[in-house]
Amino acid sequence: MELLEQKILNEGRVLSESVIKVDSFLNHQIDPVLMQQIGGEFADRFANEGVTKIITLESSGIAPAQMTGLSLGVPAIFARKRKSLTLIDQLYSASVHSFTKNETNEISVSKDYITSDDKVLILDDFLANGQAVLGLMNIVEQAGASLAGVGIVIEKGFQDGGKILREQGIRVESLATIASLANQKITFTKEGASV
Ligand code: G4P
Repeated sequence: MELLEQKILNEGRVLSESVIKVDSFLNHQIDPVLMQQIGGEFADRFANEGVTKIITLESSGIAPAQMTGLSLGVPAIFARKRKSLTLIDQLYSASVHSFTKNETNEISVSKDYITSDDKVLILDDFLANGQAVLGLMNIVEQAGASLAGVGIVIEKGFQDGGKILREQGIRVESLATIASLANQKITFTKEGASV
């Protein structure tokens, strides 16, 4: 997605060979116009999949998930990383380890909002090692729901997540795929090229 790549080039700050900061539009301040376009793009790509629910993980997945839900006309659910005061219902839970942050979160979703009738689109802001998506897939499986695919705003193609998911036959649509962050330079993988 050209517009997103331009935004990453203009506003992204390379923090290391493996981490890029995009706080000005995705991870802290949110650009609502860009988010709306992102939502429209995911909706177009998954238009024929019969999606009934979108699921993401708090917090940065919420904005693109909500805008995609708006475009597809379906609800967006965010899995919680911490127990909420009001989340007293029966829960589906999974453990998600972040190699980037070196922490493990127990993520949970109320059984009220995902059922075996659902066809679920998983969305997230970043795809690095794939652990968040695998945790969300585990929850979709526990609910007996089916998976429409995975939508990612920024995939880091030099990490394993995309490969792990695609090898399982899962449809992964990334709007921008970063091939490298070496030497403070952001380079993208061309759309359609293998990661
Ligand atoms: P994985 O799920 O693909 O295995 O990713 P990983 O554990 O490595 O990532 C953990 C967190 O770090 C996620 O955010 C993810 O979005 C974020 N992250 C990973 N790589 C980058 C990067 O290069 N740049 C930025 N800005 N973020 C990155 P999170 O903990 O869920 O945070 P948030 O959603 O509350 O913002």
